[in-house]
Amino acid sequence: MAVHIVPAQVTDVQRVLADHPRYWGDRDLRSLHLLALVQEFGSTCLAARADDGIRGYLIGFVTPDGTGYVHLIATRDDTRGTGLGRDLYAAFVEAAREQGAVRLKAITSVANEGSVAFHRSLGFQARVEEDYNGPGRAMVVFTRALPGAP
Ligand SMILES: CC(C)(COP(=O)(O)OP(=O)(O)OC[C@H]1O[C@@H](n2cnc3c(N)ncnc32)[C@H](O)[C@@H]1OP(=O)(O)O)[C@@H](O)C(=O)NCCC(=O)NCCS
Repeated sequence: MAVHIVPAQVTDVQRVLADHPRYWGDRDLRSLHLLALVQEFGSTCLAARADDGIRGYLIGFVTPDGTGYVHLIATRDDTRGTGLGRDLYAAFVEAAREQGAVRLKAITSVANEGSVAFHRSLGFQARVEEDYNGPGRAMVVFTRALPGAP
């Protein structure tokens, strides 16, 4: 079945939210799905659409200093391990570079070993930042330079 990675629309995110456990399991991250991000950073928010729904998505934006920041990425439970997460990142890199991004950044919870393995496979450096979310609230921070960037 064909999968098309396209700029996301608010309705794509609403479809994801209606089926949230298939992307995030037991974790409730619905409050992080800010529709304003899709409205305001439309070209760096991506949906992987197929006939059977949204296979995966990425919500990201480029900061004024040239960081392509990935706020959320998830693939549907029946699609994991097929390369879609990698493809979503590749599409994000293309869109982010058009806006001047020279590096990538993402974060995840320290317990999310799958996300750490995934980001390492994509060439990210991972480090724990102890107070990222406030005192004593650590997060894993991923960083990667973009090839060809100064
Ligand atoms: C993390 C996630 C997005 C990966 O998506 P995916 O479509 O399964 O990833 P891909 O198939 O493109 O895998 C790309 C690479 O990462 C590796 N990888 C992906 N998930 C992995 C895992 N759980 N453990 C180890 N390696 C993993 C793959 O082996 C692959 O490596 P390779 O290309 O060197 O062979 C997906 O597991 C997911 O949606 N998880 C739940 C949401 C989440 O935690 N998101 C990240 C936090 S923002």
